[in-house]
Amino acid sequence: MEKSSFYSEEEIKKEAKRLYEKLKKVKFSLDECYSFAALTLEINKLKKEKNAVILAHSYQTPDIIYGVADFVGDSLELSRQASETKAETIVFAGVKFMAETAKILSPKKTVLLPSLEAGCSLSESITGEDVRKLKAENPGVPVVCYVNTSAEVKAECNACCTSANALKVIESFKENKIIFLPDKLMAKNIQNKTKKKIIFWDGLCVVHKEFNVKQIEEIKEKYPGTKILVHTECNPSVVELADFSGGTSGMINYAKTNKAESFMMVTECGLSDRMKVELMQKKFVGTCELCPYMKKNTLELILQVLRKPEEKQIIEVKEEIRLKAKKAIDYMMEIK
Ligand code: 13P
Ligand code: SF4
Repeated sequence: MEKSSFYSEEEIKKEAKRLYEKLKKVKFSLDECYSFAALTLEINKLKKEKNAVILAHSYQTPDIIYGVADFVGDSLELSRQASETKAETIVFAGVKFMAETAKILSPKKTVLLPSLEAGCSLSESITGEDVRKLKAENPGVPVVCYVNTSAEVKAECNACCTSANALKVIESFKENKIIFLPDKLMAKNIQNKTKKKIIFWDGLCVVHKEFNVKQIEEIKEKYPGTKILVHTECNPSVVELADFSGGTSGMINYAKTNKAESFMMVTECGLSDRMKVELMQKKFVGTCELCPYMKKNTLELILQVLRKPEEKQIIEVKEEIRLKAKKAIDYMMEIK
């Protein structure tokens, strides 16, 4: 974008300063902020003109989260926002299954996904046909799917869940056997907390499967008193060492309310970046992993999709599939 043709030098400098106030906490320089200030100005202007909102998952990059997002949250919170927003257009700064969930809940709205490469290893591990086979092999067994699934998969399931409510959703069924898909590690973590027998699928999150016990032990030794917060998509051996395990919002709440000074966020790097910006007085230590899918969205793509989306960036879900998938999501939404 030719920034100077749209905005005065003064406007760009002011925007760069606004961005820098937030982003300096995650090591952005004022010059870097200046380099994309015209982009954030233009995106924020177009949002108003087009009655659009940008919903961003916590794993998005800080320039998106603090530059242009209207709402930042976990999968469950973003689904709720998608169904409640009055905006005509939702730009989903997240991955495809999230944008599809928004479309399922708000069929009349235009839902846009900036990057066509923003998939998810979990979502891509299973098809609707796979679920039909599983159901045929396990007649009468309810199927609970993690929200990280396609609309086609959700349409085959009795209920959907997120990392924030998986156990509650599973416990809400009277049956003693439940098929939980597609995350094998999350299924194992749930199995450790329920008396029900969990039948699982072989999906993995490419980010969370990478964490191991050694990394946690090293941090505990180097920074005694550090609270270990682990996403439930991690290996059970890692979850076992956690002071708290759950979804991203649960991890944020724990860090915000716990009196400890030092925390390790065992999850995607976006979450520790968010914490560094929002909880400056606390210390965040240890390693994190980048999600190759989440990081495909950029400010440039957000601007392009708002200006003139390509056909493939406009999320569509066939009505027959949408209605069935919505039932599974509604089941989850009704669980308090
Ligand atoms: P939550 O933010 O719902 O915990 O999900 C994490 C995730 O991996 C999303 O892709
Ligand atoms: Fe999928 Fe894992 Fe990336 Fe989330 S972090 S989008 S579960 S690959």
